[in-house]
Amino acid sequence: MKQRKISAGMVLAYLLLMACTKKQAEEFKPEAPETPGAKVSYAAVIDPIFKARCNGCHSAGRSGSVAWTFSGLSSVTADADRIKNAVLVKKSMPLGGSLSATDLQSIKDWFDQGMQP
Ligand code: HEC
Repeated sequence: MKQRKISAGMVLAYLLLMACTKKQAEEFKPEAPETPGAKVSYAAVIDPIFKARCNGCHSAGRSGSVAWTFSGLSSVTADADRIKNAVLVKKSMPLGGSLSATDLQSIKDWFDQGMQP
């Protein structure tokens, strides 16, 4: 009888522990990097977008390079106003295509946050 009492108590303690652990895991979910307003860095978020969506036409010698030559962070900050205008306002770039809503939001946040490296 004494033996049964102990194991019932242990089962109850185990269940309570599991319930707590599960609840904590749900509360501490990290924010996704695409969340509007989250800190956006050039290296982690913006550089991959520009490399995939702009570099093909804007690297040195390509069709778009006369208008603007892409060569990493400093080439973007140096022409920030023209890039903002083309990508976020007129949406004329990327030429012949468009960026996802997530990429547009990331680029907007990055400019708004002062172009963090
Ligand atoms: C398919 C080729 C192509 C792609 C992709 C492309 N561009 Fe362009 N871009 C051009 C060409 C060609 C020009 C010059 C003629 C023009 O303005 O339409 C240009 C012009 C520009 C200009 C100058 C506009 C102005 O008004 O002074 C900027 C800034 C620019 N592109 C930024 C970008 C950015 C940022 C991306 C990526 C999001 C991008 N482009 C993607 C071909 C492209």
